[in-house]
Amino acid sequence: MTDHPDLFTLFPAAEEIPAAHRLTLPLDQRRWLVDGELRTWDGPVQSVVSPIRLRGGGALSPCVLGSVPSLSETEALGALDAAVRAWDCGRGAWPTMPVEGRIRCVEEFVFRMGERRTEVINLLMWEIGKTLKDSEKEFDRTVEYVRDTIEALKELDRASSRFTIEQGILGQIRRAPLGVTLCMGPFNYPLNETFTTLIPALIMGNPVVFKPPKHGVLLFGPLLEAFRSAFPKGVVNTVYGEGRIVIPPLMSSGRLDAFAFIGTSRVANQLKQQHPKPHHLRSVLGLDAKNPAIVLPDADLDLAAAECVLGALSFNGQRCTALKILFVHSSVAEKFLEKLAAGVDALRPGMPWTPGAAITPLPEEGKTEKLAAFVDEARGFGARVVNPGGARACESLFTPAVVYPVDRRARLWNEEQFGPIVPVVPFGDVAEPLEYVVESDFGQQVSLFGNDPKALARLIDPLVNQVCRVNLNSQCQRGPDTFPFTGRKDSAEGTLSVTDALRVFTIRTLVAAKATGPNKAILKEILEKSHSRFLSTDFIF
Ligand code: G3H
Repeated sequence: MTDHPDLFTLFPAAEEIPAAHRLTLPLDQRRWLVDGELRTWDGPVQSVVSPIRLRGGGALSPCVLGSVPSLSETEALGALDAAVRAWDCGRGAWPTMPVEGRIRCVEEFVFRMGERRTEVINLLMWEIGKTLKDSEKEFDRTVEYVRDTIEALKELDRASSRFTIEQGILGQIRRAPLGVTLCMGPFNYPLNETFTTLIPALIMGNPVVFKPPKHGVLLFGPLLEAFRSAFPKGVVNTVYGEGRIVIPPLMSSGRLDAFAFIGTSRVANQLKQQHPKPHHLRSVLGLDAKNPAIVLPDADLDLAAAECVLGALSFNGQRCTALKILFVHSSVAEKFLEKLAAGVDALRPGMPWTPGAAITPLPEEGKTEKLAAFVDEARGFGARVVNPGGARACESLFTPAVVYPVDRRARLWNEEQFGPIVPVVPFGDVAEPLEYVVESDFGQQVSLFGNDPKALARLIDPLVNQVCRVNLNSQCQRGPDTFPFTGRKDSAEGTLSVTDALRVFTIRTLVAAKATGPNKAILKEILEKSHSRFLSTDFIF
């Protein structure tokens, strides 16, 4: 049993799991995709354990969902070889395929992906504890992103399907692929944030090796066959296993041209340094963040508290865009805390499928202990847990805690908690949160709550040069996906959005010639007889 029987009983007994969400276990995935083949693995495996515990006999026990291949360096390099062959120094069938052909492959893939929706959503719930509603949202948002990417590419191609003449020089400018690309997504958005780099990289002609995250790995199983059948061989390859075993050989081989990674800056730094030619590698990184909210004295406190609850605690605070520290003007701090605490305690803990549940089991091992240690340390520096229901733990469940006032010596001040803790700091002068933003290692977003246009404008101007998105009277977030998503300092490298992602995985390249009679004749013939795939004025309708 536990000190918190109310939390203990939220974990299901096997027979209490709704029929629609039961899995037939074990899910022992043995296949990985390489060179157009689904190969079968008979070597060592990694267990996949759900954050959801099972209740029985007065105790909770881990739920082992199954296992995935724990590949070695040899298989990882095999996947890389296949991608390098598909690239073939830029002469491969995929990088030279007309845009319409690549679009058809992605359309085929997204159609097949749609057929596996229910399975993938169920696995999102079981593997990372994301609520049913948010898992559905992650899947559907990803499908929509892929469709929008296709439309954006058509638009880009149309714009590049013409020649320009400048200073007597004729030229056709297009975006060309970079080469072999490694994609790695994070556990909190395993599907969405893997695909928002993988699909743009692919559709622009880059062969890809991708590694699913540690949590949220089985859910790629149902999609492997769709990848295999939709893309030519070697264009999509997977690696499974321990990141520290399978990734360094890929990096140190020097054969990667692009690296898309969503995770911590610590890991990104380590990996980038392993590439022997750092300038050869284009990195697209979405990293840590510690987005602050600043609540000004004239803010609508009901709205600010509601947005901060959502912003800090959606998916248990496990979003890179989450609000991870709140600065509140001392004159309204007590009132704000009251509203915030009420909002936080109203969030219901439960299982991902429990209707109305907002707080769910956490997938990272030892996470609840780590969160409790954050709270204890802040208490040692004079803070208290403001909401009566906060900071209670039972196995992988941790009830969200509003911690106030957080001292600058506490780790909650500048470490990313990536979990259900809401650190709050009072301020007297707005220069204090501004200084916090300047001193921070991170620079993703900030939220400002207030109603005085002048006071807000005085903050907007310095903040836009410290972070990459200032949100007015609303939480921080990535969406809409057509908006640029990036960060400064340790928070990101490169920009993602539906259109930016097409740019970030390509380089502009052009064919140019003096506009002389003979050159025009040559170009005309190349175009008329479709001698080149690059030089073409074909228009995608
Ligand atoms: O983990 C970071 C995600 O990109 C956040 O996306 O703001 O849509 O939840 P979101």
